[in-house]
This record gives sequence, C-alpha cells and structure tokens, in this order.
Amino acid sequence: MSFAIAIDGPAAAGKGTISKAVAAHFGFAHLDTGLLYRAVGAKVLAGVDPLEAAETLTAEDLEEPGLRTADVAQAASRVAVIGEVRAALVDFQRAFARRAGGAVLDGRDIGTVICPDAEAKLFVTASAEVRAQRRFAELEARGDDTSFETVLADVKERDARDAGRAEAPMVAAEDAVRIDTSELSIEAAVAAAIAAVEEARA
Ligand code: CDP
Repeated sequence: MSFAIAIDGPAAAGKGTISKAVAAHFGFAHLDTGLLYRAVGAKVLAGVDPLEAAETLTAEDLEEPGLRTADVAQAASRVAVIGEVRAALVDFQRAFARRAGGAVLDGRDIGTVICPDAEAKLFVTASAEVRAQRRFAELEARGDDTSFETVLADVKERDARDAGRAEAPMVAAEDAVRIDTSELSIEAAVAAAIAAVEEARA
C-alpha cells in the first residue's frame, strides 16, 4: 500500500527536520528532493552540463560532501529553472512517492507537480528572517564562514527565483495545509505536521 506525504515550502523553512520526523513517526521512507537539485548544481559548478548532470545522477552523487553549502544551494536554484533538468528528475521522484509502505517527499513542487494526488500535503513557511537565522546557525555550526546578512540575501534570492520561474514554480497546492513555523519550536512544528497527516489519513 502506498501513501504519499508532500511537504513543500521556501528555503530553510524546516521542511527537512519536519519531513524526517514525520517519516520516522509513520515508518515511511523520506526523500529530500532538494538534494537532487543540489547534486546537479554541484556538478554544474564542477563544469558538467546541467542536463547531462541530471540525466546521469547516481545515488552516490547525493552523498557528496559539500552539498549543503550556500554556493551549491544557489547553483541548485539556477539549474532548477531548466525544464529539461526538472523533467529528467520526475520519474525517480514519482516512483519514490508510490513505493510500498509510504513516502514523505519534501521540496518545492511535490504537491503541485510531482505528486498532485498525494494523500497529505503540507506547505511549511516561516518569515525570511527566522529562516535565515536558522540556516545561519546551521552553517555556522558546520564551520561555514558566513554572516546573517549573507544568508538572508541568499534565502530571499532563491525564494524569488523559485517562486518566479515558469516551470513548476514554488507555490502551495490549493489543498495543502499551511504551517507557519516562525513562532513554533521544532517539537510543536512536528506535532502540527503529524496532526495534519493524521487528519488526512482519517
Ligand atoms: O534546504 P533548502 O530549503 O534551503 O533548499 P533545498 O530544499 O535543498 O533546495 C535547493 C534548491 O533546489 C531550491 O532553492 C530550489 O531551487 C530547488 N528545488 C526545486 O526546484 N524543487 C524541489 N522539489 C526541491 C528543490
């Protein structure tokens, strides 16, 4: 039996943390689709053609170190506007969504394009400042030499590009439950997400 949970939202909204916790709660598999675009972006930074990078992506590519840097995030957002790149990644994501035993996918277009028939859809947001603060703390903890202002500018630039592109723009599906995590602890955000999925399951 398959059960797909789509979790979309802007940069650093907490989708990763929430998705992992929701997947663990229900015993579902989890796919961070941003990692696919980050892996393609990293290859492009290394000189590979974007479409070739997307068409030849391997599981090992997703384990490359350095995919979480801000430079790779920007590269990901730039390759993500290319329709052929997105198309090359669709089948893998759809198959993952319909695997037996249930799946959680997080990204930008899961509830709208990849899995419009997902049984549960969430759109996780927070103010740009809160998201930048969280991402800044993450990057700093990893030893990245950056500033809050740089991270805020990165988050805003990616959001504008992701929401403004012609192909699969970032937008909440009409039937998505919105969760604003600006003033929520991780525990409260996870609880809200689990409650929304429980409601969809009922
Ligand atoms: O972790 P964060 O929210 O900052 O970003 P991510 O989810 O790793 O995604 C990196 C970039 O990949 C985004 O800025 C999007 O441009 C792109 N992306 C996308 O276009 N569609 C998806 N389903 C997931 C990511």
